[in-house]
Amino acid sequence: MARGIAGSGVLLAFLLLVAAPWGGIALAAEDGCAGCHDGLKSGAMAGRHADYRGSVHERAGVGCDSCHGGNPRAADKVDAHKGVMPAADKTSRIHFQNVPETCGACHKGQRRGFVTSRHYRELESTGQGPNCVTCHGSMATRVMGVDTIEQFCIVCHNPKRGIAPEKPWEAATALTLMDQADTLTRWAGEFAELAGKKPPPALDTARRELAAARTVWHTFDLEQVRAHARKASAAAVEAREALR
Ligand code: HEC
Ligand code: HEC
Ligand code: HEC
Ligand code: HEC
Ligand code: HEC
Repeated sequence: MARGIAGSGVLLAFLLLVAAPWGGIALAAEDGCAGCHDGLKSGAMAGRHADYRGSVHERAGVGCDSCHGGNPRAADKVDAHKGVMPAADKTSRIHFQNVPETCGACHKGQRRGFVTSRHYRELESTGQGPNCVTCHGSMATRVMGVDTIEQFCIVCHNPKRGIAPEKPWEAATALTLMDQADTLTRWAGEFAELAGKKPPPALDTARRELAAARTVWHTFDLEQVRAHARKASAAAVEAREALR
Protein backbone atom coordinates (compact mmCIF):
# COMPACT_ATOMS: atom_id res chain seq x y z
CA MET A 1 0.00 0.00 0.00
CA ALA A 2 2.62 2.54 1.14
CA ARG A 3 4.85 1.52 -1.77
CA GLY A 4 1.97 2.10 -4.18
CA ILE A 5 1.53 5.72 -3.02
CA ALA A 6 5.26 6.40 -3.13
CA GLY A 7 5.38 4.89 -6.59
CA SER A 8 2.63 7.13 -7.96
CA GLY A 9 4.41 10.15 -6.42
CA VAL A 10 7.52 9.32 -8.43
CA LEU A 11 5.45 8.91 -11.57
CA LEU A 12 3.78 12.32 -11.01
CA ALA A 13 7.15 14.00 -10.43
CA PHE A 14 8.40 12.39 -13.64
CA LEU A 15 5.41 13.71 -15.61
CA LEU A 16 5.96 17.24 -14.20
CA LEU A 17 9.64 17.15 -15.16
CA VAL A 18 8.83 16.01 -18.68
CA ALA A 19 6.15 18.68 -19.01
CA ALA A 20 8.29 21.54 -17.67
CA PRO A 21 9.91 22.65 -20.96
CA TRP A 22 6.46 23.38 -22.37
CA GLY A 23 5.29 25.43 -19.44
CA GLY A 24 4.75 23.19 -16.39
CA ILE A 25 1.25 21.74 -16.44
CA ALA A 26 0.54 22.34 -12.77
CA LEU A 27 1.12 26.10 -12.82
CA ALA A 28 0.21 26.97 -16.40
CA ALA A 29 -3.48 27.31 -15.59
CA GLU A 30 -2.91 30.15 -13.11
CA ASP A 31 0.39 31.66 -14.26
CA GLY A 32 2.10 30.36 -17.37
CA CYS A 33 4.91 32.91 -16.96
CA ALA A 34 6.14 31.48 -13.67
CA GLY A 35 5.47 27.94 -14.81
CA CYS A 36 7.71 28.21 -17.86
CA HIS A 37 10.35 30.46 -16.29
CA ASP A 38 10.77 28.06 -13.36
CA GLY A 39 11.82 25.49 -15.93
CA LEU A 40 14.54 27.64 -17.58
CA LYS A 41 17.80 26.07 -16.48
CA SER A 42 20.27 27.98 -18.64
CA GLY A 43 20.58 31.30 -20.44
CA ALA A 44 20.70 34.86 -19.08
CA MET A 45 17.02 34.84 -18.05
CA ALA A 46 17.10 31.63 -15.98
CA GLY A 47 16.29 32.34 -12.35
CA ARG A 48 15.91 36.10 -12.86
CA HIS A 49 12.60 35.97 -10.99
CA ALA A 50 14.04 34.07 -7.99
CA ASP A 51 13.36 37.03 -5.65
CA TYR A 52 9.70 36.89 -6.62
CA ARG A 53 9.30 33.56 -4.84
CA GLY A 54 7.96 34.11 -1.34
CA SER A 55 7.78 37.89 -1.91
CA VAL A 56 4.98 40.15 -0.71
CA HIS A 57 3.84 40.43 -4.32
CA GLU A 58 3.55 36.69 -4.82
CA ARG A 59 1.64 36.32 -1.54
CA ALA A 60 -0.70 39.15 -2.58
CA GLY A 61 -1.36 37.44 -5.93
CA VAL A 62 0.40 40.12 -8.03
CA GLY A 63 1.43 38.14 -11.12
CA CYS A 64 4.43 38.59 -13.44
CA ASP A 65 2.19 40.27 -16.03
CA SER A 66 1.23 43.05 -13.55
CA CYS A 67 4.72 44.50 -14.01
CA HIS A 68 5.82 42.99 -17.35
CA GLY A 69 2.61 42.85 -19.38
CA GLY A 70 2.00 39.84 -21.64
CA ASN A 71 -0.55 37.07 -21.40
CA PRO A 72 -0.14 34.78 -18.36
CA ARG A 73 -2.70 32.28 -19.69
CA ALA A 74 -0.77 31.52 -22.89
CA ALA A 75 1.39 28.39 -22.82
CA ASP A 76 3.30 29.36 -25.96
CA LYS A 77 6.28 31.70 -25.53
CA VAL A 78 5.49 34.01 -28.44
CA ASP A 79 1.83 34.40 -27.41
CA ALA A 80 2.75 34.88 -23.76
CA HIS A 81 5.39 37.53 -24.57
CA LYS A 82 3.13 39.88 -26.57
CA GLY A 83 3.92 43.30 -25.06
CA VAL A 84 6.78 41.96 -22.90
CA MET A 85 10.04 43.81 -23.62
CA PRO A 86 13.59 43.44 -22.27
CA ALA A 87 14.54 45.99 -19.61
CA ALA A 88 17.00 47.67 -21.98
CA ASP A 89 14.24 48.57 -24.45
CA LYS A 90 13.05 52.15 -23.91
CA THR A 91 9.41 51.13 -24.46
CA SER A 92 9.59 48.35 -21.84
CA ARG A 93 7.45 48.70 -18.74
CA ILE A 94 10.53 47.76 -16.73
CA HIS A 95 12.92 50.19 -18.49
CA PHE A 96 14.48 52.09 -15.57
CA GLN A 97 12.81 55.35 -16.55
CA ASN A 98 9.37 53.71 -16.87
CA VAL A 99 9.49 51.88 -13.53
CA PRO A 100 7.73 54.65 -11.51
CA GLU A 101 4.79 54.50 -13.92
CA THR A 102 4.61 50.68 -13.78
CA CYS A 103 4.78 50.41 -9.98
CA GLY A 104 2.67 53.55 -9.59
CA ALA A 105 -0.28 51.87 -11.31
CA CYS A 106 -0.92 50.22 -7.94
CA HIS A 107 1.15 52.32 -5.52
CA LYS A 108 -0.50 55.60 -6.47
CA GLY A 109 0.37 57.57 -3.32
CA GLN A 110 4.08 56.69 -3.53
CA ARG A 111 4.16 57.59 -7.22
CA ARG A 112 2.41 60.92 -6.64
CA GLY A 113 5.06 61.89 -4.07
CA PHE A 114 7.96 60.51 -6.05
CA VAL A 115 7.26 62.41 -9.29
CA THR A 116 7.66 65.72 -7.41
CA SER A 117 11.11 64.72 -6.09
CA ARG A 118 14.56 65.73 -7.20
CA HIS A 119 15.22 62.00 -7.66
CA TYR A 120 12.53 61.77 -10.34
CA ARG A 121 13.85 64.81 -12.19
CA GLU A 122 17.37 63.34 -12.17
CA LEU A 123 16.02 59.98 -13.30
CA GLU A 124 14.18 61.50 -16.25
CA SER A 125 16.89 63.98 -17.29
CA THR A 126 20.33 62.46 -16.58
CA GLY A 127 19.32 58.92 -15.55
CA GLN A 128 21.34 59.43 -12.32
CA GLY A 129 18.49 59.39 -9.82
CA PRO A 130 17.24 56.21 -8.13
CA ASN A 131 13.86 54.70 -9.11
CA CYS A 132 11.52 52.45 -7.09
CA VAL A 133 13.53 49.35 -7.95
CA THR A 134 16.90 50.87 -6.95
CA CYS A 135 15.60 51.10 -3.39
CA HIS A 136 13.13 48.18 -3.19
CA GLY A 137 14.75 45.52 -5.43
CA SER A 138 13.47 44.42 -8.85
CA MET A 139 10.70 42.27 -7.44
CA ALA A 140 10.32 44.76 -4.59
CA THR A 141 11.27 42.45 -1.76
CA ARG A 142 13.05 45.01 0.40
CA VAL A 143 11.86 47.91 2.51
CA MET A 144 14.81 49.65 4.15
CA GLY A 145 14.70 50.37 7.86
CA VAL A 146 16.73 52.56 10.22
CA ASP A 147 19.49 49.95 10.43
CA THR A 148 20.18 49.79 6.67
CA ILE A 149 19.14 53.08 5.12
CA GLU A 150 22.29 55.10 5.82
CA GLN A 151 24.59 52.53 4.20
CA PHE A 152 22.33 52.47 1.17
CA CYS A 153 21.91 56.21 0.49
CA ILE A 154 25.64 56.75 0.98
CA VAL A 155 26.34 54.84 -2.24
CA CYS A 156 25.37 58.02 -4.14
CA HIS A 157 25.31 60.62 -1.38
CA ASN A 158 28.90 60.85 -0.15
CA PRO A 159 31.59 63.54 0.14
CA LYS A 160 33.56 62.03 -2.73
CA ARG A 161 30.73 62.40 -5.25
CA GLY A 162 29.62 65.61 -3.57
CA ILE A 163 25.87 64.93 -4.02
CA ALA A 164 24.18 66.22 -0.85
CA PRO A 165 26.41 64.12 1.49
CA GLU A 166 24.32 64.93 4.58
CA LYS A 167 21.24 63.08 3.23
CA PRO A 168 22.03 59.56 4.51
CA TRP A 169 22.20 60.79 8.10
CA GLU A 170 19.09 62.96 7.64
CA ALA A 171 17.22 59.94 6.21
CA ALA A 172 18.19 57.74 9.17
CA THR A 173 17.00 60.46 11.54
CA ALA A 174 13.70 60.85 9.69
CA LEU A 175 13.03 57.08 9.72
CA THR A 176 13.93 56.91 13.44
CA LEU A 177 11.42 59.67 14.20
CA MET A 178 8.77 57.86 12.11
CA ASP A 179 9.37 54.56 13.95
CA GLN A 180 9.16 56.37 17.28
CA ALA A 181 5.91 58.09 16.30
CA ASP A 182 4.52 54.75 15.12
CA THR A 183 5.33 53.06 18.46
CA LEU A 184 3.96 55.90 20.62
CA THR A 185 0.77 56.10 18.56
CA ARG A 186 0.16 52.36 18.78
CA TRP A 187 0.80 52.37 22.54
CA ALA A 188 -1.66 55.21 23.11
CA GLY A 189 -4.26 53.38 21.01
CA GLU A 190 -3.76 50.09 22.85
CA PHE A 191 -3.90 51.83 26.22
CA ALA A 192 -7.21 53.53 25.38
CA GLU A 193 -8.61 50.14 24.38
CA LEU A 194 -7.37 48.31 27.47
CA ALA A 195 -8.68 51.07 29.76
CA GLY A 196 -12.00 50.92 27.93
CA LYS A 197 -11.90 54.68 27.39
CA LYS A 198 -13.00 56.81 24.46
CA PRO A 199 -9.90 57.65 22.37
CA PRO A 200 -8.97 61.32 22.96
CA PRO A 201 -8.91 63.67 19.90
CA ALA A 202 -5.12 63.87 20.15
CA LEU A 203 -4.94 60.21 19.07
CA ASP A 204 -6.60 61.10 15.76
CA THR A 205 -4.10 63.91 15.31
CA ALA A 206 -1.23 61.48 15.96
CA ARG A 207 -2.53 59.01 13.38
CA ARG A 208 -3.11 61.75 10.82
CA GLU A 209 0.38 63.22 11.26
CA LEU A 210 1.98 59.78 11.02
CA ALA A 211 0.11 59.07 7.80
CA ALA A 212 1.24 62.47 6.49
CA ALA A 213 4.88 61.64 7.29
CA ARG A 214 4.54 58.38 5.28
CA THR A 215 2.87 60.18 2.37
CA VAL A 216 5.54 62.87 2.23
CA TRP A 217 8.39 60.31 2.44
CA HIS A 218 8.58 59.65 -1.32
CA THR A 219 8.91 63.37 -2.11
CA PHE A 220 12.22 63.06 -0.18
CA ASP A 221 11.52 66.38 1.50
CA LEU A 222 13.05 65.00 4.69
CA GLU A 223 12.50 68.23 6.63
CA GLN A 224 8.74 67.80 6.20
CA VAL A 225 8.88 64.09 7.06
CA ARG A 226 10.62 64.94 10.32
CA ALA A 227 8.16 67.74 11.12
CA HIS A 228 5.11 65.46 10.68
CA ALA A 229 6.73 62.65 12.67
CA ARG A 230 7.55 65.02 15.55
CA LYS A 231 3.96 66.31 15.60
CA ALA A 232 2.67 62.72 15.62
CA SER A 233 4.85 61.80 18.62
CA ALA A 234 3.83 64.92 20.54
CA ALA A 235 0.15 64.21 19.89
CA ALA A 236 0.53 60.56 20.92
CA VAL A 237 2.13 61.62 24.22
CA GLU A 238 -0.68 64.13 24.75
CA ALA A 239 -3.25 61.39 24.08
CA ARG A 240 -1.57 59.09 26.59
CA GLU A 241 -1.57 61.88 29.23
CA ALA A 242 -5.26 62.54 28.63
CA LEU A 243 -5.99 58.87 29.42
CA ARG A 244 -4.56 59.05 32.96
C1 HEC B 1 6.83 28.72 -22.78
C2 HEC B 1 7.83 29.41 -22.02
C3 HEC B 1 7.65 30.86 -21.60
C4 HEC B 1 6.50 31.49 -21.19
C5 HEC B 1 5.09 30.91 -21.11
C6 HEC B 1 6.90 32.83 -20.81
N1 HEC B 1 8.24 33.01 -21.01
FE1 HEC B 1 9.29 34.71 -20.67
N2 HEC B 1 10.95 33.90 -21.51
C7 HEC B 1 11.07 32.59 -21.90
C8 HEC B 1 12.42 32.36 -22.43
C9 HEC B 1 12.97 31.05 -22.94
C10 HEC B 1 13.11 33.61 -22.33
C11 HEC B 1 14.56 33.91 -22.72
C12 HEC B 1 14.65 34.75 -23.95
C13 HEC B 1 14.03 34.08 -25.15
O1 HEC B 1 14.37 32.93 -25.46
O2 HEC B 1 13.15 34.71 -25.77
C14 HEC B 1 12.15 34.55 -21.76
C15 HEC B 1 12.41 35.89 -21.53
C16 HEC B 1 11.59 36.75 -20.79
C17 HEC B 1 11.92 38.10 -20.38
C18 HEC B 1 13.20 38.84 -20.69
C19 HEC B 1 13.00 39.83 -21.80
C20 HEC B 1 12.90 39.20 -23.15
O3 HEC B 1 11.91 39.44 -23.86
O4 HEC B 1 13.82 38.44 -23.52
C21 HEC B 1 10.87 38.57 -19.66
C22 HEC B 1 10.76 39.94 -19.00
C23 HEC B 1 9.87 37.53 -19.63
N3 HEC B 1 10.33 36.42 -20.33
C24 HEC B 1 8.65 37.62 -18.97
C25 HEC B 1 7.60 36.74 -19.18
C26 HEC B 1 6.23 36.98 -18.73
C27 HEC B 1 5.78 38.21 -17.98
C28 HEC B 1 5.48 35.92 -19.13
C29 HEC B 1 3.99 35.70 -18.98
C30 HEC B 1 3.12 36.77 -19.44
C31 HEC B 1 6.39 34.98 -19.79
N4 HEC B 1 7.66 35.53 -19.78
C32 HEC B 1 6.01 33.76 -20.30
C33 HEC B 1 10.09 31.62 -21.82
C34 HEC B 1 8.74 31.84 -21.49
C1 HEC C 1 6.59 43.95 -8.86
C2 HEC C 1 6.92 43.93 -10.27
C3 HEC C 1 7.47 42.66 -10.87
C4 HEC C 1 6.95 41.40 -10.76
C5 HEC C 1 5.70 40.96 -10.03
C6 HEC C 1 7.82 40.55 -11.54
N1 HEC C 1 8.85 41.28 -12.07
FE1 HEC C 1 10.33 40.59 -13.27
N2 HEC C 1 11.24 42.42 -13.22
C7 HEC C 1 10.68 43.56 -12.70
C8 HEC C 1 11.57 44.67 -12.92
C9 HEC C 1 11.32 46.11 -12.48
C10 HEC C 1 12.70 44.15 -13.63
C11 HEC C 1 13.95 44.91 -14.12
C12 HEC C 1 14.81 45.09 -12.92
C13 HEC C 1 16.25 45.28 -13.19
O1 HEC C 1 16.61 45.98 -14.14
O2 HEC C 1 16.99 44.72 -12.39
C14 HEC C 1 12.45 42.74 -13.80
C15 HEC C 1 13.29 41.86 -14.48
C16 HEC C 1 12.93 40.58 -14.92
C17 HEC C 1 13.67 39.77 -15.89
C18 HEC C 1 14.93 40.21 -16.62
C19 HEC C 1 14.51 41.09 -17.78
C20 HEC C 1 15.64 41.70 -18.58
O3 HEC C 1 15.37 42.18 -19.70
O4 HEC C 1 16.78 41.75 -18.08
C21 HEC C 1 12.96 38.61 -16.05
C22 HEC C 1 13.31 37.44 -16.98
C23 HEC C 1 11.80 38.68 -15.16
N3 HEC C 1 11.82 39.89 -14.50
C24 HEC C 1 10.84 37.69 -15.06
C25 HEC C 1 9.79 37.71 -14.16
C26 HEC C 1 8.89 36.60 -13.93
C27 HEC C 1 8.93 35.26 -14.67
C28 HEC C 1 8.01 37.01 -12.97
C29 HEC C 1 6.92 36.20 -12.30
C30 HEC C 1 7.32 34.92 -11.73
C31 HEC C 1 8.34 38.38 -12.61
N4 HEC C 1 9.43 38.77 -13.35
C32 HEC C 1 7.64 39.18 -11.70
C33 HEC C 1 9.47 43.65 -12.04
C34 HEC C 1 8.66 42.58 -11.69
C1 HEC D 1 -0.79 45.03 -9.63
C2 HEC D 1 -0.50 45.89 -8.52
C3 HEC D 1 0.95 46.08 -8.08
C4 HEC D 1 2.03 46.46 -8.86
C5 HEC D 1 2.08 46.71 -10.36
C6 HEC D 1 3.14 46.61 -7.93
N1 HEC D 1 2.74 46.33 -6.66
FE1 HEC D 1 3.86 46.51 -4.96
N2 HEC D 1 2.36 45.70 -3.86
C7 HEC D 1 1.10 45.37 -4.35
C8 HEC D 1 0.35 44.71 -3.29
C9 HEC D 1 -1.08 44.20 -3.41
C10 HEC D 1 1.21 44.65 -2.16
C11 HEC D 1 0.93 44.01 -0.80
C12 HEC D 1 -0.12 44.75 -0.04
C13 HEC D 1 0.35 46.08 0.38
O1 HEC D 1 1.17 46.16 1.31
O2 HEC D 1 -0.08 47.10 -0.22
C14 HEC D 1 2.45 45.33 -2.54
C15 HEC D 1 3.50 45.56 -1.68
C16 HEC D 1 4.63 46.31 -2.00
C17 HEC D 1 5.65 46.76 -1.07
C18 HEC D 1 5.67 46.53 0.41
C19 HEC D 1 6.63 45.39 0.71
C20 HEC D 1 6.70 45.06 2.17
O3 HEC D 1 7.55 44.24 2.49
O4 HEC D 1 5.95 45.60 2.98
C21 HEC D 1 6.59 47.45 -1.79
C22 HEC D 1 7.86 48.11 -1.27
C23 HEC D 1 6.15 47.43 -3.17
N3 HEC D 1 4.96 46.74 -3.26
C24 HEC D 1 6.84 48.02 -4.22
C25 HEC D 1 6.52 47.86 -5.57
C26 HEC D 1 7.39 48.21 -6.67
C27 HEC D 1 8.78 48.81 -6.51
C28 HEC D 1 6.73 47.90 -7.82
C29 HEC D 1 7.22 48.02 -9.25
C30 HEC D 1 8.47 47.33 -9.58
C31 HEC D 1 5.43 47.37 -7.44
N4 HEC D 1 5.35 47.33 -6.06
C32 HEC D 1 4.42 46.99 -8.32
C33 HEC D 1 0.63 45.61 -5.62
C34 HEC D 1 1.41 45.99 -6.69
C1 HEC E 1 15.54 56.44 -2.52
C2 HEC E 1 14.85 55.23 -2.09
C3 HEC E 1 13.40 54.99 -2.44
C4 HEC E 1 12.79 55.18 -3.68
C5 HEC E 1 13.37 55.77 -4.95
C6 HEC E 1 11.44 54.70 -3.53
N1 HEC E 1 11.23 54.24 -2.24
FE1 HEC E 1 9.53 53.36 -1.53
N2 HEC E 1 10.30 53.41 0.36
C7 HEC E 1 11.61 53.73 0.69
C8 HEC E 1 11.78 53.61 2.13
C9 HEC E 1 13.05 53.86 2.91
C10 HEC E 1 10.50 53.22 2.65
C11 HEC E 1 10.11 53.00 4.12
C12 HEC E 1 9.51 54.27 4.66
C13 HEC E 1 8.61 54.02 5.83
O1 HEC E 1 9.03 53.40 6.81
O2 HEC E 1 7.43 54.45 5.74
C14 HEC E 1 9.61 53.08 1.50
C15 HEC E 1 8.27 52.64 1.59
C16 HEC E 1 7.54 52.20 0.48
C17 HEC E 1 6.28 51.48 0.52
C18 HEC E 1 5.55 51.09 1.77
C19 HEC E 1 6.12 49.86 2.37
C20 HEC E 1 5.74 49.73 3.82
O3 HEC E 1 5.31 48.64 4.21
O4 HEC E 1 5.86 50.72 4.55
C21 HEC E 1 5.88 51.25 -0.77
C22 HEC E 1 4.64 50.51 -1.23
C23 HEC E 1 6.87 51.87 -1.63
N3 HEC E 1 7.85 52.43 -0.84
C24 HEC E 1 6.80 51.90 -3.01
C25 HEC E 1 7.61 52.71 -3.82
C26 HEC E 1 7.34 53.01 -5.22
C27 HEC E 1 6.17 52.50 -6.02
C28 HEC E 1 8.36 53.82 -5.64
C29 HEC E 1 8.53 54.48 -7.00
C30 HEC E 1 7.41 55.32 -7.49
C31 HEC E 1 9.29 53.99 -4.50
N4 HEC E 1 8.78 53.32 -3.42
C32 HEC E 1 10.48 54.70 -4.54
C33 HEC E 1 12.60 54.08 -0.20
C34 HEC E 1 12.41 54.41 -1.55
C1 HEC F 1 21.43 56.14 -7.60
C2 HEC F 1 21.94 57.24 -6.83
C3 HEC F 1 21.13 57.74 -5.65
C4 HEC F 1 20.69 57.03 -4.55
C5 HEC F 1 20.87 55.55 -4.26
C6 HEC F 1 20.06 57.99 -3.68
N1 HEC F 1 20.07 59.23 -4.25
FE1 HEC F 1 19.28 60.94 -3.45
N2 HEC F 1 19.87 62.01 -5.10
C7 HEC F 1 20.59 61.48 -6.16
C8 HEC F 1 20.88 62.55 -7.12
C9 HEC F 1 21.66 62.41 -8.43
C10 HEC F 1 20.28 63.74 -6.59
C11 HEC F 1 20.32 65.16 -7.15
C12 HEC F 1 21.49 65.82 -6.47
C13 HEC F 1 21.66 67.27 -6.71
O1 HEC F 1 21.08 68.03 -5.94
O2 HEC F 1 22.36 67.63 -7.65
C14 HEC F 1 19.66 63.33 -5.31
C15 HEC F 1 18.96 64.22 -4.48
C16 HEC F 1 18.44 63.87 -3.25
C17 HEC F 1 17.73 64.78 -2.37
C18 HEC F 1 17.41 66.23 -2.69
C19 HEC F 1 18.58 67.09 -2.38
C20 HEC F 1 18.29 68.55 -2.57
O3 HEC F 1 19.02 69.33 -1.99
O4 HEC F 1 17.32 68.89 -3.26
C21 HEC F 1 17.38 64.10 -1.25
C22 HEC F 1 16.63 64.60 -0.04
C23 HEC F 1 17.87 62.74 -1.42
N3 HEC F 1 18.51 62.63 -2.64
C24 HEC F 1 17.70 61.72 -0.48
C25 HEC F 1 18.11 60.41 -0.68
C26 HEC F 1 17.90 59.35 0.28
C27 HEC F 1 17.23 59.51 1.63
C28 HEC F 1 18.41 58.22 -0.26
C29 HEC F 1 18.42 56.83 0.32
C30 HEC F 1 17.13 56.28 0.72
C31 HEC F 1 18.93 58.55 -1.58
N4 HEC F 1 18.73 59.88 -1.79
C32 HEC F 1 19.50 57.64 -2.44
C33 HEC F 1 20.99 60.17 -6.32
C34 HEC F 1 20.73 59.14 -5.45
